[in-house]
Amino acid sequence: MAPAKVLSVVGARPQFVKAAAVSRAMAAEPRLAEVMIHTGQHFDREMSAVFFDELAIPPPAINLGIAGGGHGAMTGRMLEALERVMLAERPALVLIYGDTNSTLAGALAAAKLHLPVAHVEAGLRSFNRRMPEEINRVLADHLSALLFCPTPTAVANLAREGITAGVHDVGDVMYDATLHAAARARTDVIDRLGLAPGEYLVLTLHRAENVDDPARLAALLDYVRDLAAGRTVVFPVHPRTRKALAGGEDALAGLTTCAPLGYLDMHRLLADAALVATDSGGLQKEAYFHRVSVVTLREETEWVETVEAGWNRLWRAPDYAPRREIDAYGDGRAAEAIVARIAAAL
Ligand code: UD1
Repeated sequence: MAPAKVLSVVGARPQFVKAAAVSRAMAAEPRLAEVMIHTGQHFDREMSAVFFDELAIPPPAINLGIAGGGHGAMTGRMLEALERVMLAERPALVLIYGDTNSTLAGALAAAKLHLPVAHVEAGLRSFNRRMPEEINRVLADHLSALLFCPTPTAVANLAREGITAGVHDVGDVMYDATLHAAARARTDVIDRLGLAPGEYLVLTLHRAENVDDPARLAALLDYVRDLAAGRTVVFPVHPRTRKALAGGEDALAGLTTCAPLGYLDMHRLLADAALVATDSGGLQKEAYFHRVSVVTLREETEWVETVEAGWNRLWRAPDYAPRREIDAYGDGRAAEAIVARIAAAL
């Protein structure tokens, strides 16, 4: 029997990391054949191609080249183009990742064509509907037939919304990716940036709610400068943040800035960091995978386990909870579990 065709939709940086783990497992499953579509949402070499190279992800079959514009325009253009691709490819299932505009467009295009949707990283909630990501993940979950949750908390979130069928707690594919790639992360980034191991902070900021308002962005940068107490702060600057800072680069005084880092450089940096300050979802856990503490530069987090276990605190919280190990993220074989469930379902 011919293998069942799975059409995966990726487009933004965190999705490349998740897709790397799942694609590798899918390549080893003879019952499935993957066709990967890149929406084009992220297009700079250091936001996209570097991940395909470093994580050995097969190049996407199609890159739609859709980036920028407002949420409606970007998502609408993706929806139109993805529908066309899905009609031509006729997949047995559409696989989507995370919570970006590419995720929502993939889910919506597939659901309207009556194609089953599988969502990797289902059930995460910030309970803040002002975040575009929250809208994207709620809608993607409600359109999905298979919901692959990274944690028991995510399963409980779905149950609260009445979603119990097709829900599987498989563990976190980002943990799989870390185990696979971080062991090989022997890059020269520490020397290149002139860092002393154990004595620097890693900072990332890219959420619309943090960077689009100059006063909020300046307040967060001041906060991190205080937190560093004289230590070096390494700040790889996301393109959205770079644009927001245009003309106001004074706000970066005293920080060691660089272009966005590849996956291996970032993991090398995390391994020897004193502390991470971030508004990224993925980095909150990746820091924990390296047993480094995090300050989350947001008012809430989806990864509540990291806070409860004392490895993460919200920036306005006075202190960390007592520290313990976290067993919620699975055994590093989430991708295999996802692929097995998909193969069984088709
Ligand atoms: C998107 C996701 C967010 C995810 C993040 C990871 C949505 C709503 N948000 O946010 O959930 O955490 O990706 O990075 O989907 N740009 C470049 N070069 C690039 C990529 C983007 O210049 O390679 C520019 C875009 O043209 C745009 C801005 O940066 O002007 C923001 O990009 P966009 O894709 O809208 O959202 P992100 O902030 O990256």
